[in-house]
Amino acid sequence: MNISGTHYRTIWPTVTGSVRVIDQSRLPFEFATVDLETLEDAASAIRSMVVRGAPLIGATAAYGIALASRQDSSDTHLKEAARTLQATRPTAHNLAWALSQMRRALKRVSPRERANVAFKEAARICDADVEQCRAIGVHGFEIIRRRAAAVGRVVNILTHCNAGWLACVDWGTALSPVYAAHDAGIPIHVWVDETRPRNQGASLTAFELAAQGVPHTVIADNLGGHLMQRGRVDMVIVGSDRTTAAGDVCNKIGTYLKALAARDNDIPFYAALPAGTIDWSLDQGSDIPIEERSATELTHITGRSSSGALATVRVVPESSPVLNLGFDVTPARLVTALITERGLCAASRAGLESLYPDRRIAHALVGS
Ligand code: MRU
Repeated sequence: MNISGTHYRTIWPTVTGSVRVIDQSRLPFEFATVDLETLEDAASAIRSMVVRGAPLIGATAAYGIALASRQDSSDTHLKEAARTLQATRPTAHNLAWALSQMRRALKRVSPRERANVAFKEAARICDADVEQCRAIGVHGFEIIRRRAAAVGRVVNILTHCNAGWLACVDWGTALSPVYAAHDAGIPIHVWVDETRPRNQGASLTAFELAAQGVPHTVIADNLGGHLMQRGRVDMVIVGSDRTTAAGDVCNKIGTYLKALAARDNDIPFYAALPAGTIDWSLDQGSDIPIEERSATELTHITGRSSSGALATVRVVPESSPVLNLGFDVTPARLVTALITERGLCAASRAGLESLYPDRRIAHALVGS
């Protein structure tokens, strides 16, 4: 995607051998990049949310293994590196998925060749993510096009958190259909949930929609239900950090409430996701590990003061305890359809297996 006319991905290798990422902790106030030189740089970028969003967490972990294998390509070190990266953020399945791709690529490679192979595999994972997200856009575009034809006016789409190109390598998941529709001249408008506590909607989704010229409005997290009751939302599209084999969707905290409100108002609710998000080992959304993050994300807010300086202020009394869980699970029954790189399917095991038949065979073999 473009920022001020320049095309960027969120992560790319440099000629000097480092891995460059956009520092998302400084957006929307400042566009800056950071160079990752070591395994610990990569792990810390994921942990501190310099990079975030399920697909980008996976891509960064892949490069983390590449950086680790340049430091020490022994089996012991690479196993330890994978453990360190896996521990950074527990909910996004793309992290475990990317690490398994790296493990497979390096399995039969001699330690001397590993760094080279690892960098190539990480680049392949990134390219595949770009292609998958582009394909999600093509499939999701059809839903928006049909809705636009049916309503004969601007289509209002509500989204939660940031599931745009900043959360991936390029294009995005939930926002990829939005960009495809906008580029095709379909009149759209996006309601952007601010997404407390970290405000990924207000800071990142708004930033990227503005940069692409997509009409949008930032709203308080609690406004969505009211807008739905008043007929001002035509569809909801969100991303997913982990999708169970039964089609339950785990995404940023607050997603579930939007799905409930959408169902009550007969508004379609879609989750857009690439295959790496699907955890085929889980049937129950309640088994997904939910990340608990630092209380300061809730007790403090950072913004730009009228003097132009960045300021962090406390918004909760010193003595009040807080609970900051990062994700919730929307049960499959509330999801109208999943939008994947292979097309749309019902949010169910049968639906997912119709798009990924290899998994149906694997499941049948394990079950027999
Ligand atoms: O905590 P974050 O910012 O990593 O959470 C991101 C989300 O919840 C996204 O919606 C999700 O990763 C889907 S990304 C395409």
